[in-house]
Amino acid sequence: MSRTFTRRRLLGGIAGTAALATTAGAVTWANRRPGLVAPDAELVARVEAARRHPGATTVTARLRPRPVTLDLGGPTVSTWGYAEDAPGPLLRVRAGDRLRIEVRNDLPVHTSVHWHGVALRNDMDGVPGLTQPPIQPGGRYDYVFTAPDPGTYFYHPHTGVQLDRALYGVLIVDDPHEPGRYDHEWVLVLDDWVDGTGRTPDDVLAALTTMGHQGGMPGMDDGGMPGMDHGGMDHGGHGGMDGGPGDTGGMEMLTSPLLGGAGDVAHPYHVVNGRVPSAPRTFRARPGERVRLRIVNAGSDTAYRVALGGHRLTVTHTDGFPVVPVDTDALLLGMGERVDVVVTLGDGVFPLVAAAEGKPGQGLAVVRTGGGERPPSTVRPTELDRAVLDTGTLRAADEVTLADRRPDRVHRLELGGSMMPYRWTINGATFDEAEPLTVQWGERVRLQFVNDTDMFHPMHLHGHTFAVTGGGVRKDTVVVVPDRTVTVDFDADNPGRWMTHCHNAYHAETGMMTTLAYRA
Ligand code: C2O
Ligand code: CU
Repeated sequence: MSRTFTRRRLLGGIAGTAALATTAGAVTWANRRPGLVAPDAELVARVEAARRHPGATTVTARLRPRPVTLDLGGPTVSTWGYAEDAPGPLLRVRAGDRLRIEVRNDLPVHTSVHWHGVALRNDMDGVPGLTQPPIQPGGRYDYVFTAPDPGTYFYHPHTGVQLDRALYGVLIVDDPHEPGRYDHEWVLVLDDWVDGTGRTPDDVLAALTTMGHQGGMPGMDDGGMPGMDHGGMDHGGHGGMDGGPGDTGGMEMLTSPLLGGAGDVAHPYHVVNGRVPSAPRTFRARPGERVRLRIVNAGSDTAYRVALGGHRLTVTHTDGFPVVPVDTDALLLGMGERVDVVVTLGDGVFPLVAAAEGKPGQGLAVVRTGGGERPPSTVRPTELDRAVLDTGTLRAADEVTLADRRPDRVHRLELGGSMMPYRWTINGATFDEAEPLTVQWGERVRLQFVNDTDMFHPMHLHGHTFAVTGGGVRKDTVVVVPDRTVTVDFDADNPGRWMTHCHNAYHAETGMMTTLAYRA
């Protein structure tokens, strides 16, 4: 089969966005593969019409991605953002309502906006070259779609490693039927930060990808990377690196007992709502009040272990969908995952810590219900070192349990890759080499994410919320640790072409990404 579009060109390729900008003019996103449902198919519009609630209203907003200067609470950085602050504007609608978001691109490169986790119409999914043309510098694109399911979602670009800048924001879809038994709602966005600290995410990516080609980096002893090839790959082989420019920064092995290989990049900062831990955001309430926390991991290469000192957290939702509530001391959140928790606050000042799993550093926010000193930026609540919950192991709440059904189709996705060369794959292929995985509208589909690497991968599917077999928890992003397989089922009820990929921005950009396409 011949490919009707060159995905490397469309998605930005390894070298980032510059090459793309020059070739993008030749791209026609509506290029069709015969036999597959295109984003502008009549079926896509028909499924969208069925999503709309009678009496639904339209919520409008504007986003202007642009170069910005951000004060992270000490360090000031030049970066790209949706606002003069991070995260970008909070968008909020009721389930069944329609969003109309006008995006004006004031970046020097092209971009788009992806609505992570939302089961929306395919032509609004925001993947340049796959579901829409890229939004050129100075260009505009209007996203108009119905948000069908309540929950905590977020938005970000789908070009290169733009996600590793300040280009992210939260989208909350409210459930009109939910009683909301809490006094406050706080949104916390966790992020690993590098941009504007002497290197951009594109520099980091370039350093990672040139390691393999140049046979070594300055300061790195050649051949000092044991077993970096696939198979015997030891992700801990980072230990042989010694801090060339833009590399993993001379860190020791990035490993975690929970995750195995825990990341490739040493981000100098970890921020919560755009603040480093020495200048944390403070949330205020009264003792005894109940708070709903909506926590989003917008990081590019970091999973976070989250705890609130002196409290247990009741987990109520993950990736937007309700779970059978579980109490925990701490929880782990991979990139792209979200979790909602409810907590009844004690009296005092409490650290909400997002420790970078398997990496040095942490993010911090402060919860204050009484007097007392602000906790130090290195505070480590004991809750972090007790039981740590993986949200992928939760049980779905009854009302969102996927009905039992035998899968009509099974796709096995073997996750592979290596540090040298820096290349990540699904079934041995990088994104530009891969043929789409196909499904048929109406099928029950099973995906098996098989991790053959020594590193964890948060695997994400666009346009659907799958059920993890076992507990049946509904998710769109699930952490797959080394030497494990995570199996997920979903109903193919949202026609179009959809990405499935690792939510490590560097893995996705260097190949760990493929397309799931509906047959016409
Ligand atoms: Cu946050 Cu392709 O996704
Ligand atoms: Cu990955």
